[in-house]
Amino acid sequence: MSLLNDLAGADPGLSPRSTYFRLAAIGVLVAGTTGAFAYAGGWLSPGDLIQARIVDRFEQVNGPHPGFRRNHAKGLCLAGRFESSGRGARVSMASLFGAGRVTPVTGRIALAGGQPYAADAATTVRSLALRFHLPDGEEWRTGNNDIPVFPVRTPEAFYAQLLAAKPDPATGKPDPEALKAFFAAHPESAKAAALIKARTITSGFADDTFRSLNAFRFIAADGTRTPIRWAFVPEQAASVESPAERARADKNVLFDDFDSAVRRAPVHWRLVVTLGQPGDPTADATLPWPVERRNLDIGTVIVAATQPEAAGNCRDVNFDPLVLPAGIIGSDDPLLSARSAAYSQSFTRRAGEPKAPSAVHDTSASGAGL
Ligand code: HEM
Repeated sequence: MSLLNDLAGADPGLSPRSTYFRLAAIGVLVAGTTGAFAYAGGWLSPGDLIQARIVDRFEQVNGPHPGFRRNHAKGLCLAGRFESSGRGARVSMASLFGAGRVTPVTGRIALAGGQPYAADAATTVRSLALRFHLPDGEEWRTGNNDIPVFPVRTPEAFYAQLLAAKPDPATGKPDPEALKAFFAAHPESAKAAALIKARTITSGFADDTFRSLNAFRFIAADGTRTPIRWAFVPEQAASVESPAERARADKNVLFDDFDSAVRRAPVHWRLVVTLGQPGDPTADATLPWPVERRNLDIGTVIVAATQPEAAGNCRDVNFDPLVLPAGIIGSDDPLLSARSAAYSQSFTRRAGEPKAPSAVHDTSASGAGL
């Protein structure tokens, strides 16, 4: 019997009419399945943004850097703990917010951009990614940036902005005409860019504030949902030495300073959660929330060790913002699912590539075996 017969289950005893209907039904099934795969792969919708296109564009703009994250490529791993103040327990049933709870934390500080060997620069956006290891394998993973708002509202705008901001090899700066056209098409990004430009640039990672930028929701034990954004607010003051002067001698000055700070004493950030009110924008990360919103100080992240990226530590982790414990859920912000999809695509590509050492490898690490 031929393969087609096998598939159709054609029986020589069947009438031509029933064989026809059976074949037609199988045809519909095969076409439907193929269509579903094509849809999922984006082949039927070339105008739609899919994670692969965003990650392709990172590669187009930054060049190939096998083994590294396609964004926030230069980083350093860290470890410590989270000590809960108990004040978060009223608004979220997440177990780590219980009074007196201490939760192990691992994470990564990094510089935004897809260049793993770029010299540290004061104005490059800095990030703090954390992974809270709750009991029974539950986790909270979060990536936070040191800017007041995010520069774009949608994944489509993110894709367009990547190209518009691509440095021109001749000048090392983006083409001003391309940027002008991008901001004309995205006025919300022009406003956000002004807020980002006006931010205070701190001396390093340890005295910087890192924000979720996207909104999430806390779920209380009684089911009450509260829109939230959060910030990791530093307890330590600015470092005494000027990084601008030291940067001339050390291209990893920001990372090396952080490593030295942790070796002197653990670095502390308070986790401050802003409680949103009805009407506060949860689906637009370019917009700040009103300053008079209530803030809750729900605990402290204490970083006690750092370690250069290596097999098995933060290098091989995807800080997907939608890995959340019971008690925290995502919001209607369209960036969240786009981030989740793009991080997974970046992770899948880099996981299968050969690895080169991180630029931040010569720092004398303060912790072993993160
Ligand atoms: C559509 C919007 C966005 C896209 C497409 C995007 C894309 C990416 C990609 C591809 C990575 C590398 C992931 C990996 O290989 O593990 C990354 C890392 C990161 N992103 Fe985004 N991102 C977006 C928005 C945001 C926003 C709103 C934040 C807010 C704070 C953010 C914070 C971070 C951080 C902190 C990291 C580094 C995490 C780490 O150290 O592993 N991103 N992003």
